Amino acid sequence: MHITVVGTGYVGLVAGAGLADFGMQVICVDMDRKKIEALSRGEIPFYEPGLKDLVNRNVEKKRLSFSTELTPAVEQSLVIFIAVGTPSDGQGGADLSAVKGLSLQLAEIINDYKVIVTKSTVPVGTNRWIKGLIDDNKKHPVEVDVVSNPEFLREGAAVEDFMRPNRVVLGSDSPRALAIIKDVYRPLYLIETPFVITNLETAEMIKYASNAFLATKISFINEVANLCERVGADVHHVAKAMGLDGRIGAKFLHPGPGFGGSCFPKDTEAFAQLGRDFESPLRIVESVITVNTEQKIRMVEKVKRVLDGEVKSRHIAVLGLSFKPNTSDIREAPAITLVGKLLEEGAKVNVFDPQAMEEFKALFGPEQVNYFSDPYEAARDADAVVVVTEWNELRSLDLGRLKELMSRPALVDLRNIYEPDQMKELGFYYECVGRPV
Ligand SMILES: NC(=O)c1ccc[n+]([C@@H]2O[C@H](COP(=O)([O-])OP(=O)(O)OC[C@H]3O[C@@H](n4cnc5c(N)ncnc54)[C@H](O)[C@@H]3O)[C@@H](O)[C@H]2O)c1
Repeated sequence: MHITVVGTGYVGLVAGAGLADFGMQVICVDMDRKKIEALSRGEIPFYEPGLKDLVNRNVEKKRLSFSTELTPAVEQSLVIFIAVGTPSDGQGGADLSAVKGLSLQLAEIINDYKVIVTKSTVPVGTNRWIKGLIDDNKKHPVEVDVVSNPEFLREGAAVEDFMRPNRVVLGSDSPRALAIIKDVYRPLYLIETPFVITNLETAEMIKYASNAFLATKISFINEVANLCERVGADVHHVAKAMGLDGRIGAKFLHPGPGFGGSCFPKDTEAFAQLGRDFESPLRIVESVITVNTEQKIRMVEKVKRVLDGEVKSRHIAVLGLSFKPNTSDIREAPAITLVGKLLEEGAKVNVFDPQAMEEFKALFGPEQVNYFSDPYEAARDADAVVVVTEWNELRSLDLGRLKELMSRPALVDLRNIYEPDQMKELGFYYECVGRPV
């Protein structure tokens, strides 16, 4: 089967390469010429474990190719996946301009029966709107069906998540389209992946409700951690004991500097907006957003605490910039808020990240922040080190060496990697999240 995936970002590239690995003939299309040229040279535009191998293997087998030309790709494909970005519109909703632009382009091109599959995260009602846009503007009198197929992959584990998902959600009114898309995902049927087949609106809702629920767990444990700090309780023990209750589950109960990434911040915003639009407010989600914004800012207070209240003119090394380990994605990363605030208050900032420094440079140039390719070099002569992302290489820093290099042994551990007692013994001024120090 011939498939076009439009939008070759984190989702489109993983999905395109994954579908090619299932044996489909896939063309990944993107309007970003540089990205397509890089991919055609075998370069992956972002860091994602296992993706390079998956892409190269399928390019070699001639099942996967890249193009900026939408028309020929769509003409020869039965199934077209939409994987373009749906960022925040800046007013709480989702910016659907890329989806709209693409739908109108598809209306011009489509010359035969096609199944349009939406992988982009879109508010409830969008898939029906896409079908309407195409039907109202199509050049040829052909039938088009729409399927909502939200994506649940996690950056950093995207390949594994795509190839072995917890579930596949398919929403559509068309039995014909559902039969075709089930055929696309046949390899997942064979490994007994659960499929949830439903209508368009339900599939769209499942994606937002899932992300909002995970974000809720994070904001919940962050608030509990903050209270633990006041009362002398240890949030690690609290989270562990809570997680042992099968009804709660241990995942997403790790306190930290607040959630970031390309999904949770914008999806919780868009979900809350949907609630307001339909006069059915999502008060819990609204609170999750507020708690998260405050949590990111709160982290600056922790840095001040290890520096006797003042960051002005102090040298601070920020280790870990991506919003989580194993990705170069810095969208909405807590490190952005932290570094921005530290600079605002007159600190001198050194940074290190194993993969995300180029991305960070686009926000904070080398004239604002000093970039180091080694965490110890970043920490040299620093008054404080702040660990923001729990990359493996930051989980086991040589603390003796770090202390020697720093001008003042102060460590702010926003991921609770180190043990407060050990840090005290080593003579560090130490701050973490929700544990007695
Ligand atoms: N990143 C994730 O972990 C993740 C997980 C699940 C769902 N999603 C959702 O998937 C969607 C894509 O996310 P992403 O992180 O891959 O975005 P991205 O920004 O990495 O990629 C989007 C790509 O679409 C391209 N594009 C935009 N308009 C286009 C057009 N008209 N024609 C061709 N190409 C076009 C852009 O150039 C870009 O390369 C979003 O709706 C997001 O919410 C993302």
